Amino acid sequence: MKICVIGAGYVGLATGVMFGKLGHEVVCADIDESRVKSVNSGRLPFHEPPLEKELKRLVKAGSLRAVTDTRGAVRDCKFVFICVQTPSLPSGRIDINPVKAATREVGRALRRSEDYKVIVMKSTVVPGTTDSVVKPMLERLSGRKCGVHFGLCMNPEFLQEGTALEDSMEPARIVVGSEDKRSGDLLAALYRPVKAPKVRTDPRSAEMIKYASNTFLATKISYANEIANMCERFGIDSEQVLEAAGMDPRIGRLFLRPGLGFGGSCLPKDVRALRDRARSEGYRSRLLDALLAINEGQPVEGIRLLEKAVGPLRGKRIAVLGLAFKGGVDDIRETRAVPLVTELMARGARVVAYDPMAMDNFISVMPTIEYASSAAECLNGADGCIVQADWPEFKRLGRKEFSKMTNPVVVDGRRCLDPAAVEKAGARYLGIGYAPGRGK
Ligand code: NAD
Ligand code: UGA
Repeated sequence: MKICVIGAGYVGLATGVMFGKLGHEVVCADIDESRVKSVNSGRLPFHEPPLEKELKRLVKAGSLRAVTDTRGAVRDCKFVFICVQTPSLPSGRIDINPVKAATREVGRALRRSEDYKVIVMKSTVVPGTTDSVVKPMLERLSGRKCGVHFGLCMNPEFLQEGTALEDSMEPARIVVGSEDKRSGDLLAALYRPVKAPKVRTDPRSAEMIKYASNTFLATKISYANEIANMCERFGIDSEQVLEAAGMDPRIGRLFLRPGLGFGGSCLPKDVRALRDRARSEGYRSRLLDALLAINEGQPVEGIRLLEKAVGPLRGKRIAVLGLAFKGGVDDIRETRAVPLVTELMARGARVVAYDPMAMDNFISVMPTIEYASSAAECLNGADGCIVQADWPEFKRLGRKEFSKMTNPVVVDGRRCLDPAAVEKAGARYLGIGYAPGRGK
């Protein structure tokens, strides 16, 4: 089957590579020429090694290629997946201009094609977008009728960065929200080789399932942070508390790791977008307000711990380890490192920062702070350190590195280090929701 993917980003390339692996012929269309070049030479525009390995193989085998001519690509294919970005506007609403631009190209391509194609919305869009924005645009521009001459589905994506390919090949569920039965049947059949429960529904419900999922994950994190903030004040270690609470299958253990808050290109954006969509119907979501407010406060929680150990920050040299929105990726979209570094600087600290992969991206948004070329160099001469992203290499820091600090204080902003190992290596350990355990 010939498959077109519009948008060669995280979702587009994971989708394209997954269908390529399943034996289909894939063409990825993107307006960014450098991205197209990079894909055609088997290189990903971001750090995701297993996905890149497969991409290389597929490009070499001639079963995946990238183009800038979206209309041409659409004309040649049976399925068209729209995977362009839907970033936040300052109001919290999503910007659907990239979706509209892609839809326009698809609509124009449909005008000149005879066969029945299935158009699939994979970008995260607020409920109502597929049926009340995309569908009328496609019908108007193509002069054809949805459900008769072409099909339209909404098929949200649930992958996590860092495990993009694995998550695409083995998802927890596949949601097929179709406007017409025929396109839903065809899309479900395309996904048949992927072993996962298939949920058949309408496009609005599919759109809402995506938001219900991401806002629940965000709620879990803010809940964990709220409990952790209380635990630390009560002199209790939240790790054991949250682990034991999570043993109840009704609660679940995943996504209960406290820290400096959730970042990334989706959780914050999707919470704000759902809140805005609800507001547009006159509904104020107090839950979404609260979980965003908790999230905003977490970097300050980390700084409070730092000040507890090192005193006022004015003039102090503070090492920030990890700039990506989480360990394992080079993505800095909505990383909590930005509010963290901004607040440290507002309090007069001299910040020195390091990240194994995301440093170049971060330098472009915060060019004026000092950067180190390794974690050890970052700690050298520091009056305190704060871990912002859970990179595995930070777990290997020990006496050799901590002894170079002017004041060996480590604030674990992701609860990814072993407190006993840090203390044994001669540094003072503090962490979000941490209190030394008693009576264990
Ligand atoms: P991205 O920014 O990584 O990639 C989007 C790509 O689309 C870019 O390469 C851009 O050049 C291209 N593009 C923009 N307009 C275009 C057009 N008119 N024609 C062709 N190409 C165009 O975005 P992403 O992270 O892959 O996210 C895409 C969507 O998927 C968003 O709605 C996001 O919320 C959702 N999502 C993302 C993830 C994730 O982990 N990143 C996971 C699930 C869902
Ligand atoms: C998230 C969701 O997990 C995916 O299912 C979803 O498809 C995706 O958003 C999306 O819609 O784009 P991702 O952005 O890759 O995936 O990031 P996560 O792994 O969810 O982490 C988000 C943030 O939460 C990170 O800053 C991370 O450090 C933080 N986090 C995560 C915690 O603070 N505690 C946790 O227990 C888990």
